[in-house]
Amino acid sequence: MSAESAVRAASIVAALLFILSLAGLSRHETAKAGNVFGMAGMAIALAAIIGLASRSIDGTGLALIALAMVVGAAIGIWRARRVEMTGMPELIAVLHSFVGLAAVLVGWNGYLSVEARAGEQTEVAGSLLGIHSAEVFIGVFIGAVTLTGSVVAFGKLSGRIRSNPLMLPGRTLLNIGALVAFVVLTVLFVVGPNLGLLIAVTVLALALGWHLVASIGGGDMPVVVSMLNSYSGWAAAASGFLLDSDLLIVTGALVGSSGAYLSYIMCRAMNRSFLSVIAGGFGNEGGTAPDRDYGDHREISPEDAAALLLDATSVVITPGYGMAVAQAQYPVAELTRKLRERGVTVRFGIHPVAGRLPGHMNVLLAEAKVPYDVVLEMDEINDDFPDTSVVLVIGANDTVNPAAIDDSGSPIAGMPVLHVWEAEHVIVFKRSMSTGYAGVQNPLFFRDNSSMLFGDAKERVEDILRAL
Ligand code: TAP
Repeated sequence: MSAESAVRAASIVAALLFILSLAGLSRHETAKAGNVFGMAGMAIALAAIIGLASRSIDGTGLALIALAMVVGAAIGIWRARRVEMTGMPELIAVLHSFVGLAAVLVGWNGYLSVEARAGEQTEVAGSLLGIHSAEVFIGVFIGAVTLTGSVVAFGKLSGRIRSNPLMLPGRTLLNIGALVAFVVLTVLFVVGPNLGLLIAVTVLALALGWHLVASIGGGDMPVVVSMLNSYSGWAAAASGFLLDSDLLIVTGALVGSSGAYLSYIMCRAMNRSFLSVIAGGFGNEGGTAPDRDYGDHREISPEDAAALLLDATSVVITPGYGMAVAQAQYPVAELTRKLRERGVTVRFGIHPVAGRLPGHMNVLLAEAKVPYDVVLEMDEINDDFPDTSVVLVIGANDTVNPAAIDDSGSPIAGMPVLHVWEAEHVIVFKRSMSTGYAGVQNPLFFRDNSSMLFGDAKERVEDILRAL
């Protein structure tokens, strides 16, 4: 078998492993296997590409590749081991910026090795040259937008840049103008490729990426990160065309389409259109609560909460972002175990956008070894609340807000929510009466069957464990 056919065969195996990886990652029972498939696919792809490259690269080149891989792997393992679940979106944002940078470098390299050597004998000539030029331009454009967009997303998520949206006058026109300029520059570049046009599109795309993400409020960053994930996939696919790599095209398309679909699922579960997120929406309002009087709320002590739980036959726990912040999943898992030992049915109700990234709660609960079979999706548990004795809302707010159903004027009207208020008793764990992500007050806190258990969720669950 020739080296080229071996690489082609390896590419097909790697691409299949990537598809299996995505399929595995879609369910928590199979997520570990999904990761293993992904790692195996990447190892095969790297071995095949380096094996092929070794035929045209000398010893020094190979040593440099090995050095880059060792340094990259060391930094990757170090960061991945240290990152907290809540810091995951910002890590992902940084990783996307690398994909964007790589796509820009590949595009520039494509120009320097083909268009810049016009007149010399290069691999690409005739009508193919026009296609190559378009690939260079599109790859550089998508890569540069991804690069600066991801850097700004990282800055906002990590608090290094103010999370408020940048409101330049006529910002939509600026974005549309940049897109029109890109189309015009592409046509000019295909007709007569030159360095000036390439520099122009690089600067234009860097500025567009910066502006696009700077004008979105920090709260919407998870959707933006998923959107940038999609862009980084398309940037990689564009590089795949330039490098004549089928595997990069397939992998880029997989990342591009799954990122786009993830953004769509997140927007649907938040009842917002993708365009309204891109144009800025809630998350931009700075978390102010409307001045509406919902009456008084009641408080409950950990001891009384423990007593209610001991009397209960069925308990549902609905966790949210606050459980992640407090790292309360371990005492919550312990509480679940204790109650189940005493014959109480305990289940979890997981809203599709609880927390700040898809699957956030599932990962935390799996980390704390909560059995998978008691962790149910919102649709699986929503009809069971009327037969539930006690619901523990742990650090969740928007995902359990009845205003989404009752109040057509609410910013979250129409968002599907967990119907926790239909249970006999609801205990809400949070530190204050302040609002959640969407910045709207939650009438659940003022209902007759609701009681507030104020304080850090982890400490309060530990108090209940002691009282039990
Ligand atoms: P949120 O509505 O964000 O509410 C979280 C609550 O946790 C806050 O009200 C906060 O109240 C409380 N909290 C924070 N730290 C706490 C601590 N240490 N101990 C106890 N409580 C604490 O959470 P949610 O219900 O999970 O909803 C998620 C929101 O994020 C939705 O609006 C969703 O649309 C949005 N979102 C989600 C995603 C994904 S994919 N998951 C992506 C983008 C946006 P206090 O400050 O009073 O403690």
